[in-house]
Amino acid sequence: ALAALRPRDLTGRRVVVTAGGTREPLDPVRFIGNRSSGRQGIALAEAARDRGAEVVLVAAHLEVAAPTGVELQEVATTEQLRVATLDAAAGADAVIMAAAVADYRPETVAPGKIKKEQQGDELTLRLVRNPDILAELAAERTPGRTLIGFAAETESDDDAMLELGRAKLARKGCDHLVVNRVGWNEGFAAAENTVVIVSRPGDIVTRASGTKREVADAILDLLV
Ligand code: CTP
Ligand code: CA
Repeated sequence: ALAALRPRDLTGRRVVVTAGGTREPLDPVRFIGNRSSGRQGIALAEAARDRGAEVVLVAAHLEVAAPTGVELQEVATTEQLRVATLDAAAGADAVIMAAAVADYRPETVAPGKIKKEQQGDELTLRLVRNPDILAELAAERTPGRTLIGFAAETESDDDAMLELGRAKLARKGCDHLVVNRVGWNEGFAAAENTVVIVSRPGDIVTRASGTKREVADAILDLLV
């Protein structure tokens, strides 16, 4: 009901949202992945759409259905997400990196199934760093384009988590960083979310809590 009362205050804006979690293949049947459900990113895409924006949703392995009325680009790996996001970001007014991006990928992808008979009792995987998409976008420094990152932290202390967020904002060079706590029972599949947003310049702090849709609207308010 509240959504209907919101003004269409993003009309004419082009917003790119990444959602879900990337997966890095090990062999034709296995991958290294993470527990992101894509719900917060989907809520952002829906909220931006309802507020009149033209939305591109770059989606990696969503656990729930993607919204209608947005341009959907489905990707699997970090490199695919990188290409789709950089491409969509050209001409966008905002890029919101809600996706959980794999930091590392297997150095080599086995062409056939990895077999126990060949590996024996231990298997060592060698992983290499993936490119940082958010940092890459921040380095472009495109005037008029707002860059919003997310930080999922497992730190239990509120002040310590905020400090992690501040340091990450500075390191990434984005305009805003949405910090939320994740863990075995928090964050990913939940319908609700509690976030702290740190913004440059001067590290202004705003807080939002509620359904993922309510949190999405609070994040989109940063664009208005
Ligand atoms: N991100 C990205 N490319 C990567 C890794 C992360 O664009 N290769 C983005 C995420 O989408 C998120 C932000 O960077 O918006 C922060 O991600 P996070 O995992 O919290 O930070 P990292 O810099 O990867 O640091 P770490 O995981 O070591 O805490
Ligand atoms: Ca990371």
